Amino acid sequence: MCGIVGYIGDKQAQDVLISGLSRLEYRGYDSAGIATIEDDALRVEKKKGRLVNLENILEKTPLSGKVGIGHTRWATHGVPSDLNAHPHASVNREIAVVHNGIIENYMPLKEELKSQGHIFVSDTDTEVIAHLLNALYTGDIVETVQIAMGKMKGSYALGILCANEPDKIVAVRKDSPLIVGLGNGENFIASDIPAILNYTREVYLLDNGEIAVLTKDNIQVLNIAGEIIDKEIFVVDWDPGAAEKEGYDHFMMKEMVEQPKAMMEALMGRCCESSISFTGLKLNEEMMKQINRIQIVACGTAYHAGMVGKYYFEKFARISVEAEVASEYRYKNPIVDKNTLLIVISQSGETADTLAAIRLAKDRGAWVLAVTNVVGSSIAREADDVIYTNAGPEIAVASTKAYVTQVGCMMLLASYLGKLNGKLGKADAARICHSLMMTPGLIDKALETQEVIKAFADKNHKIYDLFYMGRGLDLYTCMEGSLKLKEISYIHSEAYAAGELKHGPIALIEEGTIVVAMCTQENVFEKMLSNIKEVKARGAHVLAIVQEGHEDIASEVDEVWVIPNMDDDITPIPAVVYLQLLAYYLAVARGCDVDKPKNLAKSVTVE
Ligand code: M6R
Repeated sequence: MCGIVGYIGDKQAQDVLISGLSRLEYRGYDSAGIATIEDDALRVEKKKGRLVNLENILEKTPLSGKVGIGHTRWATHGVPSDLNAHPHASVNREIAVVHNGIIENYMPLKEELKSQGHIFVSDTDTEVIAHLLNALYTGDIVETVQIAMGKMKGSYALGILCANEPDKIVAVRKDSPLIVGLGNGENFIASDIPAILNYTREVYLLDNGEIAVLTKDNIQVLNIAGEIIDKEIFVVDWDPGAAEKEGYDHFMMKEMVEQPKAMMEALMGRCCESSISFTGLKLNEEMMKQINRIQIVACGTAYHAGMVGKYYFEKFARISVEAEVASEYRYKNPIVDKNTLLIVISQSGETADTLAAIRLAKDRGAWVLAVTNVVGSSIAREADDVIYTNAGPEIAVASTKAYVTQVGCMMLLASYLGKLNGKLGKADAARICHSLMMTPGLIDKALETQEVIKAFADKNHKIYDLFYMGRGLDLYTCMEGSLKLKEISYIHSEAYAAGELKHGPIALIEEGTIVVAMCTQENVFEKMLSNIKEVKARGAHVLAIVQEGHEDIASEVDEVWVIPNMDDDITPIPAVVYLQLLAYYLAVARGCDVDKPKNLAKSVTVE
């Protein structure tokens, strides 16, 4: 989704902005632009398509100036085009704006501004902000921004330049993330930490309604009434290299390879000597006695982790749990009150629908526990309690290491609650702990099978659809594998509970259709064999994934991948890695841009 970066200091702003924008490319975008001020004049350059298109223009005609703002746009209002790209400037070229979010009342504002003679050149809601600031300008851009905030409805993170006040950048946040980076003789703004990680690790995390005024040597943060706020400096502990490809062809491959380490980080301090604990978690035994409903809410891959979580809560803590996608939950008047525990899962911690679900549940008195990867993210800050997944920065749009750590945290949390409510015995807790500690090694084993998976992908990359089927925990692994495949290879795919195929989707199976049958669950292994026979009878080409000991399934299927023997309960963690790799190699064989899949964004900050 859209990315923002801004710079003020002694360097040429263009260089810092382009370097920052290149680190935001992973978010997904369709145009890019920058604005600088030099000799009190505003300069803007923007271009549809990849950042390289903008860079090619700037190579011929650079924008000089030591203050500037930049943006990568993911189209919402208006098609991707040069004109709709940000920054947007007022007609008198005094004010330029970059914006993440949506101005919901942009139409009435636009009509009013048009009636005052403002001429619009784009279809965007953002251009309205530039004109509005121009119309309201009092000679003081900070004061003008405060007035404009009273008129705009919706969500916005803004970076603003004013040619009349060339020694400052103004930044504002409302319901869309924005950070301010503290440098020495230079300062920054950004929508995401990686954009400025090469320059500083010290940041202010702006809260809703806050306005930051940056000069080269100073930063002031104000509330909407204009009062100065004392902000705490947040020190980012990510290593700048963590946001680089480090020799891998794609971030997705690098992040898949990092999964054993990510799992170790997620388990560290929580799973030791056969017992499970969460330091800092406020949710305790007393509070759990008051809870009579648990809901898990998330989107996409995080939702799949939530489904696995529901399975674990029901198995280990014997608590009935509802799991729902956030975009449905928030619009259906959910039954949620002060006796509800709402667990939200989000890699980025910024997903708009998940945030809205938190606000709804909190308004009704629920206790909100967030499971997220990004320290200081909006979701982490708005929830009552947080469990960090500790996976390290995830850059590829296709989530991999975040997913396995989310599942690991769900298993830990379910066991922890089972311990609190007395439903999980010591021996089972010890078994879970022991099994979880095996997952880094098991993921390593999965990664060692890359050649086999690549060969399968190279042979089959021309397929136009692929089915996954599984039972129990395998179903969620299939759903996640199918999502991964769709998003990066653009192959149509379905994931079904194996017993459901005969109720409809089996009609789609024809000669040669590839069906991946995930068969890691012993209690339903025989049932899976029947389902395999059903699809084989209709011509399917079946790839079965089984644990060691079930190699003889080879006589029933076309291909078998044997995974190491493990506790059935932890299979969602190592088993998904085979499906991640399958999606990856199919996408590579088809020539797809794995890290920047079309139409998708890393952080979905619009509803
Ligand atoms: O940042 P979040 O975990 O809240 O994001 C939710 C989904 O947008 C995300 O998981 C998406 O489905 C991924 N691209 C999947 O790989």
